[in-house]
Amino acid sequence: MSDPFTREPAWDPRLFPPAFRAPRAVQTARNLLDPLAYGQALRRRFGPVYSLRMYPYRGALVCATDVATSRAVMTDHKRFPGGDAAAGLAAVVGAASLICTPPPRHLPHRMLLLPPFHGERVTRWTRRVRELVRAGLPDLLAPGPKAVRPWAQRLTLDVILRAVFGLTDPARIAAFRDAVDAFIGMGNFPVLFLPRPLRRDFGPLSPGGRFLRRRAAVRKLVRQEIAARRAVTDRAGRDDVLSMLLDVRDEHGAGLSDQQLQDELLGLVLAGHETTATTVAWALHLLAHHPAARDDLIADLDAGSDRLLKAVLKESGRLRPAVYGSLRTAAHDTELGGHPVPGHAFVAAMFPLTHLDPELWPQPHAFRPERHLGADPVPYALTPFGGGVRRCIGVSLAHLEVETVLRETLATAVPEPAGPLESARLMTVMLVPAHGARIRLRRRTARVACR
Ligand code: HEM
Repeated sequence: MSDPFTREPAWDPRLFPPAFRAPRAVQTARNLLDPLAYGQALRRRFGPVYSLRMYPYRGALVCATDVATSRAVMTDHKRFPGGDAAAGLAAVVGAASLICTPPPRHLPHRMLLLPPFHGERVTRWTRRVRELVRAGLPDLLAPGPKAVRPWAQRLTLDVILRAVFGLTDPARIAAFRDAVDAFIGMGNFPVLFLPRPLRRDFGPLSPGGRFLRRRAAVRKLVRQEIAARRAVTDRAGRDDVLSMLLDVRDEHGAGLSDQQLQDELLGLVLAGHETTATTVAWALHLLAHHPAARDDLIADLDAGSDRLLKAVLKESGRLRPAVYGSLRTAAHDTELGGHPVPGHAFVAAMFPLTHLDPELWPQPHAFRPERHLGADPVPYALTPFGGGVRRCIGVSLAHLEVETVLRETLATAVPEPAGPLESARLMTVMLVPAHGARIRLRRRTARVACR
């Protein structure tokens, strides 16, 4: 993949939608610390389409925040193709992963990956997900305030390792967990924002060196798993993604290479683990801070209904989606919302801001799950999983995990606040709770049986 950051046009106010004049470093810092408030300030000042001048972009990130322009960015694949836009992540997930694949290779590639993530296939993992949640609950329920996100990260990593690799050996899972944790630990990814020459390996203590060594450790484990599974000839009955991908053949009868498999599998682990953990964390945190909605949900679940559970997930994904936006690039010079957009510019459908549009969502900052009952939203007004041909392929698995955590937790305990409602911070491409989503869990007098 040639580097889209080198093709990106430099900043020129005549070529891009309007932007604040503040230096890039200031805009980057404000956006990292409070991306939702900063985005809303930009929208108030310039309207629904504006430029965000921040690192690592040489020019700017063009942001589309109303439903019409956000939808255009997600669905007009000729004007706004994806794949290249994720180039910043290629060093992490691997350039051959679906996330980094541009058209025309993207669609056939995506077709290979869809079957194991289809809703019906995913229900086969229900029992395993429930067992993992139950095994993890005692840690979450221990007395005192808890940050939900780190707890949920461990759980969702275990789920994804089992779903993607079919891992069951506890020692092997622990080895993967340590390597993945070290690799994606906060200390690593700022390296992606450094100029390219500074990303190199200047010794064990240099950021580039640490990044490359940790990435090599994860990749080694993935390669070992691929080799071990290739050696097994009878894979019938296995429902993990690796086993399925080993049997995939293209029209010439060729299977996937080890390199392709490595990038694909690592891409799935990284795309599916922190996003789901962040979604779990926001849902429990928001419930703790909204006792009326929380008590209604508990009563509804106790009565054997999942009507409110689905509504809570939608409302939580509206108010605090886990991902910052759907990223694309402009294929050529074009326009968006009446503003020019130069070819090769990075463009984002900023759905977290569309979710706060008062014309679509009255009282947008209020947490009101009941607004989703019996009402279909305007198309593309609620897109926490993105949209178009690049919409998240892990929606069913993510829903299974988040719903299971909420059911199991609320059957046993009542979430309560452990401090103020947290704002979102930007971490790589995610909107994470500023302090990990701290809550307290008060034990219920009697545990209610979960369905
Ligand atoms: C609640 C959890 C999750 C959220 C909020 C989420 C969100 C997203 C978003 C916003 C996108 C970009 C869509 C776009 O560009 O329009 C995406 C893409 C993707 N997600 Fe997820 N995701 C979650 C869980 C998962 C899981 C569990 C997996 C798989 C194991 C997964 C795999 C992927 C992949 C492979 C893509 C790239 C799709 C493509 O480019 O065709 N995600 N996700």
